[in-house]
Amino acid sequence: MLKIAPSILAADLLQLGSEVKRMMDAGCDMIHVDVMDGHFVPNLSFGPGIVQQLHQAFPELRLDVHLMLEHPQRYLEVFAPYAWNVTVHSEIADPVDDVLREIHALGARAGLSLKPATSVEAIEHLLGLTDMVLIMTVEPGFGGQPFRFEMLEKIRRLARSGYPGLIEADGGIRMSNLQQLVDAGLNVAVMGTGLFRSADAKAEMRAIHALESREER
Ligand code: DX5
Ligand code: ZN
Repeated sequence: MLKIAPSILAADLLQLGSEVKRMMDAGCDMIHVDVMDGHFVPNLSFGPGIVQQLHQAFPELRLDVHLMLEHPQRYLEVFAPYAWNVTVHSEIADPVDDVLREIHALGARAGLSLKPATSVEAIEHLLGLTDMVLIMTVEPGFGGQPFRFEMLEKIRRLARSGYPGLIEADGGIRMSNLQQLVDAGLNVAVMGTGLFRSADAKAEMRAIHALESREER
């Protein structure tokens, strides 16, 4: 079954606790937290305090932390102990293999993300160190952008390669493009505006969980 990771970037931030609760009650599988440094992406968002407090308030909740940082290695210790999964980008300035190993050593699952311009082939040698690959379906940095359909091919390719980890996509995901993502082999859908701004998140999530792959892979 497709897993759903609502991205709190699109939440009503003045009501963050009840917004997260709303998504948990609606049946989300995890919560996606975007961390930005203003260098790796041209925007700023959340820091470790949010992740730590969410973990404290909802200890059972899986936190899927997406680090859009030029130097994530410096910050692993303040995120990983509170996270279910920590994802770093393949395009960072730090040695990616060391970073993935350190995330595991700190007790979290390790994800590796690809910007739209990065190919699946470019990370093949690192796949053995990952539990999840995050395919960006928009240029990272902002919510509410249109979905890039060309990215479906990357998901298909990775799914067909027999990659044993989870395949996640992030950016512009809506009910209208989810079936194609599922058919391509997607396991985890990150949704910001598509869920937080929807009139009935519970109905939306029920419909998403009911989607099934129509293709054999
Ligand atoms: C963008 C972030 C996404 C963002 C997705 O850089 O990584 O997680 O919140 O938002 P939507 O679903 O609105 O595109
Ligand atoms: Zn994200």
